[in-house]
Amino acid sequence: MAAAGAVVVSGGLLLSFLLLAVSSGAYNGAGQPPISRRSFPEGFIFGTASSSYQSRHRRHGRIDSSCMSSNATAGNGCGGGGGEEAKDVWRGAQWEIRSLTEATATWLRTPTIYTREFSTYPEALAKPMQEDVRIMKDMGMDAYRFSISWSRILPNGSLTGGVNREGVRYYNNLINELLLKGVQPFITLFHWDSPQALEDKYNGFLSPSIIDDYKDYAEICFKEFGDRVKHWITFNEPFSFCVAGYASGIFAPGRCSPWEQGNCSVGDSGREPYTACHHQLLAHAETVRLYKEKYQALQKGKIGITLVSHWFVPFSRSKSNDDAARRALDFMLGWFMDPLIRGDYPLSMRRLVGNRLPRFTKDQSELIKGAFDFIGLNYYTANYANSLPPSNGLNNSYTTDARANLTGVRNGIPIGPQAASPWLYIYPQGFRELVLYVKENYGNPTIYITENGVDEANNKTLPLQEALKDDTRIEYYHKHLLSLLSAIRDGANVKGYFAWSLLDNFEWVNGYTVRFGINFVDYNDGNKRYPKNSAHWFRNFLQK
Ligand SMILES: *[C@@H]1O[C@H](CO)[C@@H](O)[C@H](O)[C@H]1NC(C)=O
Ligand SMILES: *[C@@H]1O[C@H](CO)[C@@H](O)[C@H](O)[C@H]1NC(C)=O
Ligand SMILES: *[C@@H]1O[C@H](CO)[C@@H](O)[C@H](O)[C@H]1NC(C)=O
Ligand SMILES: *[C@@H]1O[C@H](CO)[C@@H](O)[C@H](O)[C@H]1NC(C)=O
Ligand SMILES: *[C@@H]1O[C@H](CO)[C@@H](O)[C@H](O)[C@H]1NC(C)=O
Ligand SMILES: *[C@@H]1O[C@H](CO)[C@@H](O)[C@H](O)[C@H]1NC(C)=O
Repeated sequence: MAAAGAVVVSGGLLLSFLLLAVSSGAYNGAGQPPISRRSFPEGFIFGTASSSYQSRHRRHGRIDSSCMSSNATAGNGCGGGGGEEAKDVWRGAQWEIRSLTEATATWLRTPTIYTREFSTYPEALAKPMQEDVRIMKDMGMDAYRFSISWSRILPNGSLTGGVNREGVRYYNNLINELLLKGVQPFITLFHWDSPQALEDKYNGFLSPSIIDDYKDYAEICFKEFGDRVKHWITFNEPFSFCVAGYASGIFAPGRCSPWEQGNCSVGDSGREPYTACHHQLLAHAETVRLYKEKYQALQKGKIGITLVSHWFVPFSRSKSNDDAARRALDFMLGWFMDPLIRGDYPLSMRRLVGNRLPRFTKDQSELIKGAFDFIGLNYYTANYANSLPPSNGLNNSYTTDARANLTGVRNGIPIGPQAASPWLYIYPQGFRELVLYVKENYGNPTIYITENGVDEANNKTLPLQEALKDDTRIEYYHKHLLSLLSAIRDGANVKGYFAWSLLDNFEWVNGYTVRFGINFVDYNDGNKRYPKNSAHWFRNFLQK
């Protein structure tokens, strides 16, 4: 999921536990218009979303893992492409441990197998994977968005290291099972799990060499799966990956300037986030060209990219705060939408970031302009935007370049109820605003909502029956779907909606402390799945 707000808002986790604890009382939608699948246009697709890294077998992610040895193989339960992929897991575990409280870190170090989607190899997996597909089907979902792990297909990151046929076979089985049950696969090719081999070789997305390696990886996927997969997403939330990975430094690969949040040993928060995302945009554009020239006519699929944005509300009524809200949108959404629509970064970014922002050549600009069939849009929350004066110009960082102070709270009052993740304030009306903003400013592109959701704290002492009562989530979905519907009625070209997430899973720096699933996973009992009340709500909503 996004975890985007973790970049700008920190702390407050404890407070949110308390807030959720008092907000009980069954949600019955009173006062809200009823809503169902039939309220949406004919052919509108509903699904759930997930990502590979968050759904992975984590038992071997702990620090004494045998997966750390280059001997790690499929057979020993390391979960995929052998040693290199296992290193990714290891790397992830390191940051998780570094950036979490000691209590959470201890928890993370204990063996936990949580979601079974990608847990091991097809033979052992067939039954649990089929169970998860059945859960989707039982709810009436039309589609499933999941990500492929690059290093599971190419253990060395690039073609020269060879293709892992076991990895290909695994995804083939999943895709076939989905299609058998009438669930359409939507595939994300990159959901933040960059191959360790390429980090070691040339610093991953900081190098333009990644463009060709990414394109090769994508092409294998088109060749192997494209006969059955009709929706491809090149990248998930480049914003989150570049900002948290290279500006604040709290995500992989954990790079930032010395004064930034992540306490990184290396990095440059004023340049690297822009460089990494520049290369992602170019890799995206090259890959879209490849798909369109070589595969689309035959395979008849669509290709796009998933972007995340908050909605931004001016902190007070003033020209300067209106401008700050607009700049915040430019730096989160326009960073990608402007190149995709107009072939260059927003003017505000050019002006404020100056020569730290890479330039597109004329050819690159032409290539990237219009390089999509659809835009995937993730929405979770909203922030106030307050204008800030220019900084001293010495400690440059993406986090200050927009000169906007982004907060979820104004004069002590949150913009909306706070969920378990400290950055997630519930603000349904922002969904409509954001979708209409894209419609009006970027030529009304075809949109799929590729994520939308809310979390509750993982309270380990709460009895199961209580943990399944997720009225806050039902209310969240009800109100957000109404807000989306209102944007569609005003002409936004939205074709589908994916709830985040099918199951409780591993939430990046928050680890297992929060639960985003509409189905509960019992980590203490063989990862059994139980529908939360929201799963029943969706089942009812989705009846044909
Ligand atoms: C790798 O496998 C070899 C042969 O089985 C074994 O001798 C060696 O100890 C293993 N290395 C590690 C790091 O586990
Ligand atoms: C895999 O990548 C590593 C690191 O770049 C390199 O040393 C090794 O030769 C590569 N192996 C293959 C088979 O390409
Ligand atoms: C920052 O990193 C250094 C070196 O790894 C470590 O000693 C220090 O405790 C860290 N500081 C914080 C606040 O995490
Ligand atoms: C700016 O960077 C310097 C050098 O790393 C550091 O000592 C100082 O605290 C930073 N200032 C701010 C406001 O972050
Ligand atoms: C940002 O806004 C918050 C909330 O109003 C305030 O507490 C904080 O001091 C502001 N930060 C800056 C750098 O102005
Ligand atoms: C967790 O659940 C227990 C049992 O209902 C409750 O007493 C406790 O207050 C909860 N803890 C938090 C942090 O919400």
